Amino acid sequence: MRDRLLAAEKVKAIDWRDGVLYLLDQRVLPFEESWIACTRAADVAEAIGSMAVRGAPIIGISAAYGVVLAARARMVEGGDWQAALEADFTLLAEARPTAANLFWALDRMRDRLGRLKEHAEPLAVLEAEAIAIHESDREANLTMAQLGVDLIRKHQGNAQAILTHCNTGALATGGFGTALGVIRGAYIEGMVERVYADETRPWLQGSRLTAWELAREGIPVTLNADSAAAHIMKTKGVTWVVVGADCIAANGDVGNKIGTYQLAVCAMHHGVRFMVVAPSSTIDMSLASGDDIPVEERGGRELLEIGGKWLGADVDAFNPVFDVTPADLIDVIVTEKGIIERPDTAKLAQLMCRKRLH
Ligand code: MRU
Repeated sequence: MRDRLLAAEKVKAIDWRDGVLYLLDQRVLPFEESWIACTRAADVAEAIGSMAVRGAPIIGISAAYGVVLAARARMVEGGDWQAALEADFTLLAEARPTAANLFWALDRMRDRLGRLKEHAEPLAVLEAEAIAIHESDREANLTMAQLGVDLIRKHQGNAQAILTHCNTGALATGGFGTALGVIRGAYIEGMVERVYADETRPWLQGSRLTAWELAREGIPVTLNADSAAAHIMKTKGVTWVVVGADCIAANGDVGNKIGTYQLAVCAMHHGVRFMVVAPSSTIDMSLASGDDIPVEERGGRELLEIGGKWLGADVDAFNPVFDVTPADLIDVIVTEKGIIERPDTAKLAQLMCRKRLH
């Protein structure tokens, strides 16, 4: 399946070339395919904050390259460039609050910097570290796809409908996706008849990005309003809800795109299995439970306008863009280190001690 998955790769959203970070601008997809060239850490922070690049794993990868750009600029300035670099770490860390991968990647870059040998070339070392973070995310996607597909096969054979939320594909990762990677793999293995993609209001990651990605690969996808999900679970033979994560707490509570929590409640009611797919870089063991996951709130304009047009209502708008699904609603978390069925604190702690499976 690995080779077939790699052969099916059609979308790429991030490219590091000749010391410049290129990001596919996800704000204008699917209408335009335009790339943003980032040459400074501030460009990367702006791309993350404005959601030109979005999805937890690719946010982390972008930030790692952002550190390389920052280090290059600070070294040119001279003086104590490593001390000055702290301001860039802060700028990147503050770009968005929920994606654990962002803080994980920055910690890893800072740790690498702290271990520089005396005669090492700092820029080359940092660049190699960022590339390693990028490459390992791609590898993690492959491992998780295999594990997720094995689970689907174990519970039910072929021809099933899967429901997904937000965008967790090539646009959101360094490879071809977390939840969408499992769905791609299951499709290749002949186990998926149809994918139901929630449109994912208000930013429309489902209709603008997931439907676009799947349609480009010829995977049968049906777009639905978020509020149709319970009805679809009841009437369309959905066997799995498969979603990604932005942050997983030590007890297995999962922070993900707003609307994930209600999907898990509906899945439990309808006897539909609920799978979360995320690399271990999304797990933050310093957060005891989902209550500690920072939930980003974005401006009300995302709700009060449609296509840039004011809806005319002079009212307050509450726009939390993530929610927290309690661990007891989750059947399985799939990571590149292995799977955890019915997640809890002890199982997560055990998993985090393991090595990656690849
Ligand atoms: O606001 P976004 O688009 O960055 O939110 C993305 C999600 O919620 C994804 O489900 C999550 O980051 C996993 S992406 C592999």
